Amino acid sequence: MEFSEGINLIYGQNGVGKTSILEAIHTLSISKSFRAGYKKNIQKINSDTMSVVGIVSGKVEKIIAYRKILNQKKIKINEQVVEKISDLVGVFPSIVLSPEDIDIVSGGNSARLMYVNKILSISNKDYLYALARYNKIIKLRNKCLVDNKHYREVVVWDEQLPLLAQKIWQHRRDFFEHFNALFKEMWTKVIPSEKVAIKYKSLKIEDQKNLLFELESRFEKDKVRGLTGVGPHKDRINFFFGDVDIKDQASQGEKKIFLVVLKVAEAKYLHMETNKKPVLLLDDLFAKLDRSRGKKILQLIDNKYQTFITTTDNSVESYFNNFENVNFIKLKKNNELCSVA
Ligand SMILES: Nc1ncnc2c1ncn2[C@@H]1O[C@H](COP(=O)(O)OP(=O)(O)OP(=O)(O)O)[C@@H](O)[C@H]1O
Ligand SMILES: [Mg+2]
Repeated sequence: MEFSEGINLIYGQNGVGKTSILEAIHTLSISKSFRAGYKKNIQKINSDTMSVVGIVSGKVEKIIAYRKILNQKKIKINEQVVEKISDLVGVFPSIVLSPEDIDIVSGGNSARLMYVNKILSISNKDYLYALARYNKIIKLRNKCLVDNKHYREVVVWDEQLPLLAQKIWQHRRDFFEHFNALFKEMWTKVIPSEKVAIKYKSLKIEDQKNLLFELESRFEKDKVRGLTGVGPHKDRINFFFGDVDIKDQASQGEKKIFLVVLKVAEAKYLHMETNKKPVLLLDDLFAKLDRSRGKKILQLIDNKYQTFITTTDNSVESYFNNFENVNFIKLKKNNELCSVA
């Protein structure tokens, strides 16, 4: 298939293979699918092999090839074998919006924390290492708590936490300062009448400085639960419409528009931080959005990023009347390409 540098609208009925195309592109980006349970989904059932090859044009053209024979995975960039997945990450960055992502807006705090951790880990190696080390120590500490160890055995882990936690907190504060400004700027273009906010709450700075003391004073409580009750993993992120928490009250369409703007802001953030333009993979973008919001989102994207949108609704074609660089791809059953305009 050939795609436009601007917007690619993939249209077709349920089950024709629209999401599979996005999965293939995503596989070239980070060597796996974005769907839950991707391990069983990515390869055709009853097949031993799979292969995805993409030519990515930019300043320098790259051919990325992903092949799997039996359970052996091989990735090549311009015929050079990629030894570590981390060497693939960032070569062809992508941002996905999939129906399951609604959890970031509707679900519990952990989904939002995971979302922010992912963005920061991609854009900031210092954060990635600090978070990995921090999570490992918390796991070991929790095991000590479950094993009913004495404080003098747990403190060995506690002493390593403050430095890592400080780093994580500092990077998160910097992130939210930058990201909130980007998000608000974009939101204002879509729904200027509605006030929104992203609120980030962590331990008070003075208490952060005394994390070791906080850990010690909570020790008995933590032991009962077998979990560490203080630290960056307990930070809270909430999204608001006015004074109302979105996850509690917003309608499905309101949640969806918030999520979409979040993803476009993520694209801009990563672009600015890494100096690489990601492609947007927006699965079922228009579901739950009314016509006016659907169009506003397209204006927000407006050819800034190469974008792949899937939809089952052929009436959305009219949203693109004033757009250049749009490639309409219609799929028929059995993945047969019906027409590419
Ligand atoms: N691993 C697999 N092996 C074989 N077939 C699969 C596999 N995974 C998914 N399929 C099938 O491939 C077809 C295309 O799935 P896909 O999710 O891409 O459809 P879609 O066009 O996005 O549909 P929808 O509009 O419902 O989202 C479906 O019939 C699905 O059951
Ligand atoms: Mg789909």
